[in-house]
Amino acid sequence: MAKLRLGVNIDHVATIRNARGGRHPDPVRAAKLAAAAGADGITAHLREDRRHIADQDISRLAREIDLPLNLEMAATPEMLEIALAHRPHACCLVPEKREEKTTEGGLDVAVGHRTLAPFIARLRQGGIRVSLFVDPDEVQLAVAKALGADVVELHTGAYCEAEGEARAAELGRIQRAAATAERLGLECHAGHGLTFDTVQPVAAIPTVVELNIGHFLVGEAIFVGLEASIRHMRALMDEARAGLAA
Ligand code: PXP
Repeated sequence: MAKLRLGVNIDHVATIRNARGGRHPDPVRAAKLAAAAGADGITAHLREDRRHIADQDISRLAREIDLPLNLEMAATPEMLEIALAHRPHACCLVPEKREEKTTEGGLDVAVGHRTLAPFIARLRQGGIRVSLFVDPDEVQLAVAKALGADVVELHTGAYCEAEGEARAAELGRIQRAAATAERLGLECHAGHGLTFDTVQPVAAIPTVVELNIGHFLVGEAIFVGLEASIRHMRALMDEARAGLAA
């Protein structure tokens, strides 16, 4: 079974920095610490309004960190230019609305396929792996495959927000989508809203190879420190995976 990678999203280190301006706390320092704590990759979302990560953070992350960089972005001409200038390991295309607090749903690749197709082709020609952040839905996965994506990242937000039977139903959707992704030959990632309480059932899905987690890790860092917060998440992921191997 493939090892489960942890991508640490450092956006909200930049959110705190931007609350006052200046340089502290530095998301690049957080990325280096994440690497020491067991992260396998660093994820950063350059939003159109630059509410957290800024252009200079992307340049510095691309230059200064040794881990693969996963650049989350909307499929706009501005972001395409930035991605091709920095050539991150991967780009994860996400929907973006100015008024939203966070990425609320997956990208509707079925509706957007005409504009996405040339965009994905340009990134791939630039040597960048393309991931599409989608809801765990069969149609979305089939279209992602047809568009030539390398990876799908399944949106786990609805699962994390639901409770009881509704949560179990959402987990079932993620499990079925992860199996479909493998059948289609798409690498399968998952993320959004994951916490210590919700991570293990997703980590236990054998065809999921990467989880991208940010807000909870940075929030928890206030109480236990960033390194301890990441180490605990890593341990929970490994425990869930080891349970499968047993
Ligand atoms: N994956 C994607 C594609 C995202 O857009 C986000 C949020 O930026 C995450 C994962 C991480 O979500 P969270 O910050 O809730 O852990």
